[in-house]
Amino acid sequence: MTSHPAPSSKSFSQLKHLFREQHILMMLLKEFRDGILICDRHGQILQVNRSLRQFLQLKDEVVGQQVEAVIQNPEFLTAMRTVFTTANTCVEEITLEQGYPQPLFFEAHIVPINIPGFLGSGEPEVRPIMPLEAPSPQTVDGCVIICHDITDIRQTERMRRDFVANVSHELRTPLSAIEGYSETLLDGAVDDPAVCLDFIKVIHRHSLRLTQLVEDLLDLSKLESPDYKPEFLPTSVEGLIQQVLTLVQDKADEKKIQISVEISDCLPRALADLSSLQQVLTNLLDNAIKYTPTEGRVVIKARLNERGKIQVDVIDNGMGIDPKYHSRIFERFYRVDKARSREMGGTGLGLSIVKHIVQLHNGEIWVESNDSKGSTFSFTLDPAVPADLPVA
Ligand SMILES: Nc1ncnc2c1ncn2[C@@H]1O[C@H](COP(=O)(O)OP(=O)(O)OP(=O)(O)O)[C@@H](O)[C@H]1O
Ligand SMILES: [Mg+2]
Repeated sequence: MTSHPAPSSKSFSQLKHLFREQHILMMLLKEFRDGILICDRHGQILQVNRSLRQFLQLKDEVVGQQVEAVIQNPEFLTAMRTVFTTANTCVEEITLEQGYPQPLFFEAHIVPINIPGFLGSGEPEVRPIMPLEAPSPQTVDGCVIICHDITDIRQTERMRRDFVANVSHELRTPLSAIEGYSETLLDGAVDDPAVCLDFIKVIHRHSLRLTQLVEDLLDLSKLESPDYKPEFLPTSVEGLIQQVLTLVQDKADEKKIQISVEISDCLPRALADLSSLQQVLTNLLDNAIKYTPTEGRVVIKARLNERGKIQVDVIDNGMGIDPKYHSRIFERFYRVDKARSREMGGTGLGLSIVKHIVQLHNGEIWVESNDSKGSTFSFTLDPAVPADLPVA
């Protein structure tokens, strides 16, 4: 039997000190907002922190696995090999797409490390641990990979690019029509009474479209501005419906569409910003009339739903919307039938404005519809005074 010398009080306090240091470092690693992964020189994972698990949506334990099983990206793996051979830190922007619902973008800082006796294989070396030596290609024991999440930045850039492309595209059609027809007028058509008036009407129609587009864009940017403060006041839903009806009645009459209103008794007032809510209802009714054939029917219902929210439904018996488009129609510029909507003067911004306003009201909006069976657009609002829920 071998006997071990009793630890001296000095080595005991050193151990305590080391244990404390290790604890602090582990806490730091855990709480760090960037994802961190530490691996040895063979690419085997020694440690990952919580942020990395969340970012890479890791469900299983990965310590002990190879890095390439977790970060499957050829550029990343090449960069890591370069770090081991050169002992220089490398920064690489990585995109992970396969196996993720949405692409993940991150900046990987791959830092070579040399911690004698800790990460390398073989006997622990009796060398002072601090300060860390700068590793050389021969002494790289592993690396620390710091993953800085830039997904939001890249997605915002992509959205901005798409937005600019969409706006330019929307501007081009009316602008080229105005340019073409006015040139034809200038080239002599102005003296031809048979076509002159028609051409001027076309120019006028396209200029109205441009105005509508600019107004919708201004509305969107106002809603998105951090300075925009809606004025939430107790608002009569019945009063709101009546006001909006006067605005859309002419359009409905033109198509002989009958609009009826059903409001449940004792409906509480909603906590709402009146003018933006008018816009919500106007846009929904405008769609209901636009996408319903002549002599159709539109019904507006308002009631207190099972969850104690005020629910407004705009129901039409028009062309309906295939369920596969339901999640997309609230996106900017999205139209189910592009040509048809444009022909009707639509910009494809109406529902995205509606969604924005409803969300600012802490409400929800959704559509229920099937092709050819009409559509029901519903949104909810908070009652000005929380309503009593019906007893189950
Ligand atoms: N009640 C409805 N019935 C059938 N389709 C609808 C209805 N409401 C919306 N849609 C579809 O959703 C698309 C998006 O609607 P949205 O209101 O955002 O744009 P728009 O009506 O084309 O143009 P605008 O910006 O002038 O409102 C429409 O193009 C249409 O295809
Ligand atoms: Mg619309």
